[in-house]
Amino acid sequence: MEIIIATNNQGKVREFKNRLKDYEVFSLKDKNIDIEVEEDGKTFEENAIKKARTISDMTGALVMADDSGLEVFALDNAPGIYSARYGGEGLDDKGRYEKLLKDLEGKTDRDARFVSVIALCFPDGRNVTLRGECYGEITTAPDGDGGFGYDPIFYYPPLKKTFGTLTLEEKNEISHRARALDKMELFFKDEMSCLENEYLRLEIGSKGGEILHLINKSNGENLMNTDLKSWDYVAPVCFPVLGEVPDDTYYYQNKKYLIDLHGFAHLQKFSLVSASENSVTYRLNETEYSYKSWPFRFSLEITYTLTGKKVETLYKVTNNDDKQMFFNIGGHDTYAITTDYENYSLEYEKEEEIPKNCIYTNNRQFFEALPEKAKTFPVMMSKDRAIAFFTKDLKSSWVQLNYKDKPVVRVYFEREKTDSLGFWNEPNSKFYCIEPWAGIHEECQTTNITEEKTNLRYLEPNEEYTYYHSAEYFL
Ligand code: IMP
Repeated sequence: MEIIIATNNQGKVREFKNRLKDYEVFSLKDKNIDIEVEEDGKTFEENAIKKARTISDMTGALVMADDSGLEVFALDNAPGIYSARYGGEGLDDKGRYEKLLKDLEGKTDRDARFVSVIALCFPDGRNVTLRGECYGEITTAPDGDGGFGYDPIFYYPPLKKTFGTLTLEEKNEISHRARALDKMELFFKDEMSCLENEYLRLEIGSKGGEILHLINKSNGENLMNTDLKSWDYVAPVCFPVLGEVPDDTYYYQNKKYLIDLHGFAHLQKFSLVSASENSVTYRLNETEYSYKSWPFRFSLEITYTLTGKKVETLYKVTNNDDKQMFFNIGGHDTYAITTDYENYSLEYEKEEEIPKNCIYTNNRQFFEALPEKAKTFPVMMSKDRAIAFFTKDLKSSWVQLNYKDKPVVRVYFEREKTDSLGFWNEPNSKFYCIEPWAGIHEECQTTNITEEKTNLRYLEPNEEYTYYHSAEYFL
């Protein structure tokens, strides 16, 4: 198959060619196309699509384009899509990063991310965008002269170096562009899919059958975990256990089993089994690895559906074994927040009892001070330690995260099946987890032996169990 890369930058063409070995890749020059597409979109996605769509409509070919830039949080995500033009036309790369350092003078929040968006525009009118991000901090002075653009002032904490001091090979392992290219490879191998409507774009990967990104199309913002340096996941499924079984060990029919935190499903590769315009289904069956942790033949399907401003998640577990099977299942979705935690509150549909003795309420004073029952209460988020708590015996069927008393997202769950609703934040992170669980956290159990626990789900051979939740965004 033939792909045209909508760029005149030979460096980019080389990089793409290298990643698309099974395709015939052409540059604009190869095709004698001489055109400058104006980048007047409001987001990286819009700009990347505009470039690729223009050429695809002209040639009738599959066309790919990319758009990238740097977003600095304390500057309201500037320079963003204007990265190449920051400070006006007269500046070179050095002039631009010096201006950025000046604009950040005196600011303590220096968090930033590089963004790269690849658009694939198909001759049939389909547009797909794939986003890669890399999180870091803006230094107070440049370091290194490698790379280009803002590299000398972009400090990457995992390597404890600026991009300006990395070798090309090092940068290509972790950069935003490398991550977008990784996704492109997954997409071409059918290991990733995208759903898109007027408001939202949802990217789903085969690893863990998990959401990779949820983007607000009006401004390109991430609505889920924007902070992968704090936690590697966006919306992992917890299956067949919830939380950490003490010592990672349990016994079934007198045999000892070791099982990962939140089970194994989020670590395994799912297969895409069906896709329609607004819905995709991924499936996991037993593997050698899963069988060692949990001796059952099963199918776990995750279906994501995009409806207006809502993302729906349906889990379906089927017992394919010839013996009774036990499990728990739950979602662990992240929602993007900012670190002014005091401005957030949680609002339930109905009055709920506020947990005072559930695990991880390691700021007991906070919980002691809450009323016995409430519909709305301040969110327990912490800058210095992980906090998790659970509401049980729920009367509500939704809970909502508010910012300055305005709704951000409302999470609906199946009240009758939901034994506990978990909330968790990693210290200083920019996401908050709301976790509807058909079951109870392993460490909240009275016994370590999984077979004898309460709140387990059981399925007879060929029986199936479904569990649903959804998140509605107030965009
Ligand atoms: P474009 O994708 O060619 O439009 O690049 C936009 C601008 O973003 C570049 O001119 C750089 O200023 C900045 N930028 C994008 N990627 C990088 C990077 O990897 N390092 C440094 N600056 C970058």
